[in-house]
Formats: sequence, C-alpha cells, structure tokens
Amino acid sequence: MQSIHVRLAHAAYEVIVGVGVFEKLEEHLRRAGLGGPFLIVSQPRIFRAVGKDLSKKFPIVLIPDGERAKTLTTVSRLLDRMVELKLTRQSTVIAVGGGVVGDVAGFAASIYMRGIAVVQVPTTLLAQVDSSIGGKTGVNHRVAKNLIGSFYQPRLVLSDPLVLQKLPDREYASGLYEALKYGIIRDATLFEDFERDVATFLKRDPEALERLVAKCAAIKAHVVMSDEKENDIRRVLNLGHTVGHGLEAAAKYQRIKHGEAVGYGMIAAARISTALEKLALADRERIEAAIRSIGRLPALSGVNSKFILDALQHDKKIRDGAVHFILPRKIGCVEITPGVPLNIVREVVKGILDEGKRVPGPG
Ligand SMILES: NC(=O)c1ccc[n+]([C@@H]2O[C@H](COP(=O)([O-])OP(=O)(O)OC[C@H]3O[C@@H](n4cnc5c(N)ncnc54)[C@H](O)[C@@H]3O)[C@@H](O)[C@H]2O)c1
Ligand SMILES: [Zn+2]
Repeated sequence: MQSIHVRLAHAAYEVIVGVGVFEKLEEHLRRAGLGGPFLIVSQPRIFRAVGKDLSKKFPIVLIPDGERAKTLTTVSRLLDRMVELKLTRQSTVIAVGGGVVGDVAGFAASIYMRGIAVVQVPTTLLAQVDSSIGGKTGVNHRVAKNLIGSFYQPRLVLSDPLVLQKLPDREYASGLYEALKYGIIRDATLFEDFERDVATFLKRDPEALERLVAKCAAIKAHVVMSDEKENDIRRVLNLGHTVGHGLEAAAKYQRIKHGEAVGYGMIAAARISTALEKLALADRERIEAAIRSIGRLPALSGVNSKFILDALQHDKKIRDGAVHFILPRKIGCVEITPGVPLNIVREVVKGILDEGKRVPGPG
C-alpha cells in the first residue's frame, strides 16, 4: 500500500493506492475521520462488477451509465435522492466509478448544503491515474464538455488495482495511454517501465499496477499542488490533448475513447516537436513505439482533418496562425510552445489521419 499526500491552500487529503484497499473501505473512512451517514454513488455496470457487497453496508444511488449521463439533469436527480435520504452536513458521498461518476458525484457533493464531504473510489484506470485527483468536478453542457462545474477537493482517494480486473479492454488501454503520458511529461523511469513491462501492465498484474498507479498519482498530485487552479504548470498534463480533443470531437465522442485520442495526440505532439527540431528523432520513435505497444489504436476512417483544425480554433488555441502546444523535449520533459505554425500541425494531423485510415478495426 502506498500513500500520497495532497496538500493545497484549503484542503489536504491522502491518495491511498493498494491491492485490497477497497475491501477495507470502512476502515479507511474511519481513519480519514469521516463519519456517516454515507451514500454510495455508482453506475449499474460498476455496481455489478465490484459493488454488490457495498449494498449490504451503505445506501446506494445508481446514475445511468456513460458519458451521456454527465448532465445537470443527472445531478439534479441525484440531489433529489440526497434530499430524500436526508443527508446532512456531516454526510459523506462516496463516488465508486470512473471519471463520469467521480465528476457527477463530486459536483453534487460540492453544492449539496454548500458542500459535503466526498470520497473518490476510482474504478477505471483513467480515474485512478487522473480524474480522481485534483478536485475538478462537473458535467457537460450540450454546447461543450465539462462546461459546468467546480473545483472541489475530495477528502480521500482510494485506488485499488483489484477493481480494474473486470474493466473492458479498451477502457483499460485508454487508462494506460494516460499513464504513459506522465512518463513522457515528467518521469523517464516510468516511461522505461512501459518499454520493459508493458506485457505485465497488459496482464493487469495487481502489484505492477499498484506501483504504476502510485507513480502516476504522485505526479498528478505534485502538479496539482504546484498549480491548484490550472494555470501554466497544470497545463503540461494536457500533453496529447490538443489534437486528442479534436479527434474525439471529430468522431462525435463515439468511436474513439478519450485515452485512445490522447494516444494519437501524443504521437502528433512528438512529430510536431521533431519537425520543430525540439525533439530528437530517436526519442520520437521511442515515444511512438511505447504508445503503439499498448495496443492497436482505433481506425480513423471518416475523421476529417479540417474538423480537427477547426476544433483547435474553437478551443481558442490558435492565435495569428500559430497554435499553443505542449511538446516533448525529451523523454520525461515537456514545454509549452506558444507559436507552433499551423501548417506544421496540419501536415502532422493529415499524416496521422492517412495512416489511421488504413488501420483495420476495432474502431
Ligand atoms: N475531473 C477530472 O480531472 C477529469 C480528468 C479526466 C477525465 N475526466 C472525465 O472522466 C470521464 C471519463 O472517465 P472514464 O474513462 O473513467 O469513463 P467512465 O466513467 O465512463 O467509465 C467507462 C466505462 O467503464 C465502466 N466501468 C467503470 N469501472 C468499471 C469496472 N471496475 N469494471 C467494469 N466496468 C467498469 C463504466 O460503467 C463505463 O461504462 C469523462 O467524462 C472526462 O471528462 C475528468
Ligand atoms: Zn485526459
């Protein structure tokens, strides 16, 4: 078991990562000084995979599955249930799920009675290495993703590699791309773990996963601590997300998973960086090989490059024909580059789309 301390201006909490910690949920709640009444918030699929035992101990509210459930309507229904269950200011909401449950339950907890305690129990790899830490909560608006929300820190994060065993393969791989991202951003040894041990990660070996999640969580925590409200430092976490978000939007958030889009986006960032002579070709090749070793990225047929470039524009990342990008300088080190010429981005994106069109399935 490993414990990472997050200390912020107005909050401090532990991220506990360990094989078997989920089974000891009550003990960890007690140790964190959290009293009842408790309410578990989860989704049907997750509840079937890991949550059945919980229903004997706690009241549970299930929200609908999928990104489509990340709406104000879901939050409003959840708040109704919280009122019916008479949650008080002393109550604690326990979010057992992936990023969707974490974001929805965290947001509801942040506004119920002006804020009650929330504990994150992430059940996807993406949520364990990323969304459960840092306090971003919220929902989508029909106009844009994550438009409505708040910064609201959890009181405890409990990550157990054992709960990842039944996660669908593509969801799991999606989290591995985000985990690899931390290696490229900050930690060459984490990157080398992927080069050496990807097969162990793919087998979901619990001990290897515990080490991996703890390393990623420590980096995320460190970045959040240096920059709680997302100014420049926290932006380095967006490596691969500029092109990635464009790809997701172009595929209408359906055929490409977020982590897969980030996989493609990190390939794009590495190629752009090499084109600008900021990243050695050998490092670019290592980055691409590590990304591709996680699995086959989905096909990109039907994805339009103009749409992606328009999405960058919509993101206000383009100014005077140049784009802001997080670019790798070497493995374990990135920089924010303000003036990437649009024609280089266009060429790289086109190259990736052309290659991606030739990929058979699963997308
Ligand atoms: N708050 C943040 O800082 C932050 C950061 C990154 C992403 N996000 C958000 O996270 C969301 C994506 O999260 P996600 O990738 O975890 O997706 P998700 O929450 O939709 O979960 C993916 C799927 O896996 C299922 N699932 C989850 N855990 C399972 C388990 N243990 N066994 C079997 N099935 C399981 C879920 O039911 C769902 O169908 C997006 O909405 C994104 O905006 C938030
Ligand atoms: Zn991401």
